[in-house]
Amino acid sequence: MTDVEGRAAFITGGANGIGLGMARVLARAGAKLALADRDTEALARARSELEALTSIETYDLDVRDRAAFAAVADAAEDRLGPVSLLFNNAGVIVTETVAKLNYALWDFAIGINLHGVINGIQTFVPRMIARGAGGHVVNTSSGSGLAAGGSGTLYATAKFAVVGMSESLCGELASSGIGVSLLCPGPVATGIVHRSMEDAPNGAVKLSPEQEQRRWTQREAIHKVLQKSTDPDDVGEMVLRAIRNNDLYIHTDRTMEPAIIARTEALLRAMPD
Ligand SMILES: NC(=O)c1ccc[n+]([C@@H]2O[C@H](COP(=O)([O-])OP(=O)(O)OC[C@H]3O[C@@H](n4cnc5c(N)ncnc54)[C@H](O)[C@@H]3O)[C@@H](O)[C@H]2O)c1
Repeated sequence: MTDVEGRAAFITGGANGIGLGMARVLARAGAKLALADRDTEALARARSELEALTSIETYDLDVRDRAAFAAVADAAEDRLGPVSLLFNNAGVIVTETVAKLNYALWDFAIGINLHGVINGIQTFVPRMIARGAGGHVVNTSSGSGLAAGGSGTLYATAKFAVVGMSESLCGELASSGIGVSLLCPGPVATGIVHRSMEDAPNGAVKLSPEQEQRRWTQREAIHKVLQKSTDPDDVGEMVLRAIRNNDLYIHTDRTMEPAIIARTEALLRAMPD
């Protein structure tokens, strides 16, 4: 069990949504915060909201940039002390069907949703092991990392990889006193749909005006559903509880239950007698 009080936490995608929800909860629990994000305006808002509660540093970081990641890690540890709570959370959603995908979109979403997590692990975990002071890693995957369908092939590819990585790390890091939790949210009320659209490579998908309109309508529908879903601050509370209990899996609801059961049963059925 890791107590977060007095520890330094590094949160990617910490300026908005689930990352900010975790930051709020950690601040109230006495952790020091380093928030890394590309959204500098939201970082400034988060800083002014949370600086009365705890020591907080904010960094303009694109998680795909390995050199910048290492430089920001050094800067954060200079200011706050060793990071022993790591939250690889920054992410985007791309739901294009495979016929509409292209390399620009693959590179964009795999770069952030998978390589961003790898870069966080590779930057901080060796330091955490070397210091021998334990700690905890939380990787944000998705319900779509546990059973495919619904969010598209590209999103599932990265999120499944984060599941495998986290399960493996959990076994590997236990002997170093470092816990690992895998956050697999169901729908959460954030602005991820709009933010991902703004950030995706311009003109990556060629659409007719009618297709453009249809896509916009679909995205607005998903955005509306999310706004009625779990509050990101409640997700933060679930994550803090999981850290304290050293739980591997964090589900935010039971949305994925039928799909996980169906997948597991199909896997088992496919085994030879
Ligand atoms: N909201 C949901 O319903 C939901 C469901 C399942 C999984 N998730 C996952 O939760 C995580 C957080 O999503 P959210 O819903 O809070 O979205 P969000 O858009 O509210 O927050 C994501 C944050 O990541 C930042 N970000 C994006 N690309 C970045 C990059 N290259 N470098 C640094 N920061 C970057 C954004 O600026 C934003 O602040 C993501 O990994 C997402 O895939 C979300």
